[in-house]
Formats: sequence, C-alpha cells, structure tokens
Amino acid sequence: MGGRLEGKVALVTGAAQGIGRAIAERYAAEGAIVGMLDLKPERAEQAAAEVAAKGLRVQAFAGNVAERATLADAVAALEAQHGRLDILVSNAIWVRYVPIDAVTPEMLHRMTATGFDSVVWGIQCAAPAMARSGGGSIINIASAAAFLGMPNAMIYAGVKAGVLGLTRASAVELGPQQVRVNAICPGSIQTEGVRINVDPAMAAKRLARTPLGRLGEVEDVAGAALFLASDDSAWITGESLLVDGGTTPAVL
Ligand SMILES: NC(=O)c1ccc[n+]([C@@H]2O[C@H](COP(=O)([O-])OP(=O)(O)OC[C@H]3O[C@@H](n4cnc5c(N)ncnc54)[C@H](O)[C@@H]3O)[C@@H](O)[C@H]2O)c1
Repeated sequence: MGGRLEGKVALVTGAAQGIGRAIAERYAAEGAIVGMLDLKPERAEQAAAEVAAKGLRVQAFAGNVAERATLADAVAALEAQHGRLDILVSNAIWVRYVPIDAVTPEMLHRMTATGFDSVVWGIQCAAPAMARSGGGSIINIASAAAFLGMPNAMIYAGVKAGVLGLTRASAVELGPQQVRVNAICPGSIQTEGVRINVDPAMAAKRLARTPLGRLGEVEDVAGAALFLASDDSAWITGESLLVDGGTTPAVL
C-alpha cells in the first residue's frame, strides 16, 4: 500500500472487528500510527496484535465509547506519545433491531449512548488536539438507514440521522480551526454485526435493489474513510457520503 497518511496519527473506535478494523488496518497500511479502540481489552489487544504482525504501527485502547473519559484518555495518550492527532473515526455502536413495541428503556439508552453520545464526546475530545496539530479530520460512521425507512430500525435510524445533524453543525463550528467533520453512510456491509442483526430475507431484498449488484465489503467503507482522512478531501467538510452500491437512490 502507499503512504497517503504518512506522519498522521489516527484513532478508530470499534476497531476490533468489522468496518472499524478494516479502516484501522487501511490507515496503518497507508503509513498512519493508529489507535484501535474497542470495548474489551483482550479483543482490542488481539486485533491490534494481528494488525501489528503485518508490520503496521497500531496500538490497542479499551473502554466504553459511551463514556467521555474513554475518548478523552485515548486522545490524550496518542497526543502525549506521538505529539499530535490528525484523524478520528467514530465507528462503534451497540445495535439491536426490534419492533417499536419491543423497545425498552435500556435498549434506547444503550443505543443512543454508544451511537450518538460517543460521537459527541469524540468530537469534543479530538477537536482541540487536532487544532493543536494544525487541523484534522473527524469521520463519523452513520448509515444509509438515516435516509431510508426500515422496519424494526426506529432507534437506529434516529441515532444515525442525529449523527448527520451533529456532523454538519460541528463542521461549521470547527472549520476555522481546520478541523473537518464528515460522515460516511454505509449500506449493507457484510460484517459480524450484520450477521447477528439482519435477517436473510431482508439482505436478499437489499441485494435485489442494489444497482451495483452486490452487498458491500468492509474495504468499500475503508476506501471512503481513507479519502475523507486524506488531503484529497481537504476542502470537504460537513458532508455525508453514501457508500451503498446505489441502494439508497434506487427506487425499485
Ligand atoms: N455493517 C453494516 O452493514 C453497516 C451498515 C451501515 C452502517 N454501519 C455502521 O458501521 C459501524 C460499524 O459496523 P460493523 O457492522 O462493523 O459493527 P460490528 O458490530 O461488527 O463491530 C462494532 C465494534 O464496535 C465495538 N463496540 C460496541 N460497543 C462498543 C462500546 N460501547 N465501546 C467501544 N466499542 C464498542 C464492538 O465490540 C465491535 O468490535 C457502526 O456504526 C454501524 O452502525 C454498518
């Protein structure tokens, strides 16, 4: 791989598996030093060890992204060790898809805390460090569900639509400090999280209305995340990028 992120320091949340792991690995392959944060220390450490074994520079962080201190500590550690922070990817979330009448207070709280509060804390904690580094790029992983009506996804869709709102607002506020804030809205990507949550009939329907004729792979999202992290997107902020094979604009 190339050196498009040479000299950059990144933090990726939910990096032990799935999309987060692919983004972390791609960034490291492009020359960045990458903090891989996940909930459980042993999973974060194992994932980081597997990526490091490829000769890439990564380090594990553990903690719950719903808690501000998790983001604050990881940002502080990366800045202290490497003198800068350039990129944050807020990717982690805990998700369940259930009918409206099955939503519980615990479910609502856990999904909003991990999927929305975490993005707020990420922006609040990372932006000052990025400003001290001369600027940076924050990438929030939202979802095509922010635009689409999907059964059993009321909370998820609301959380992800909220992420798009705070992406736009924070981009305007942080622009003068050269901190860019953008979102990626993946369509159906084949990950562990999807295999637990999405029923096969639904996946078949999605495939049928995907113009590019296949469901997504984690590398599809990692490529978009590389673009938004790199200087190739230097004049893009407050934007959301659909990475969905054309599913969202398709009517049939
Ligand atoms: N997979 C898809 O089809 C798809 C589609 C649209 C959007 N997305 C979004 O992409 C992101 C990643 O999805 P994925 O499918 O790779 O997920 P995944 O469930 O496979 O992985 C999520 C990772 O986040 C970690 N995590 C969960 N809660 C955490 C917490 N409180 N603190 C720290 N880490 C935590 C998990 O341990 C796991 O390693 C999510 O924001 C998801 O909503 C995914």
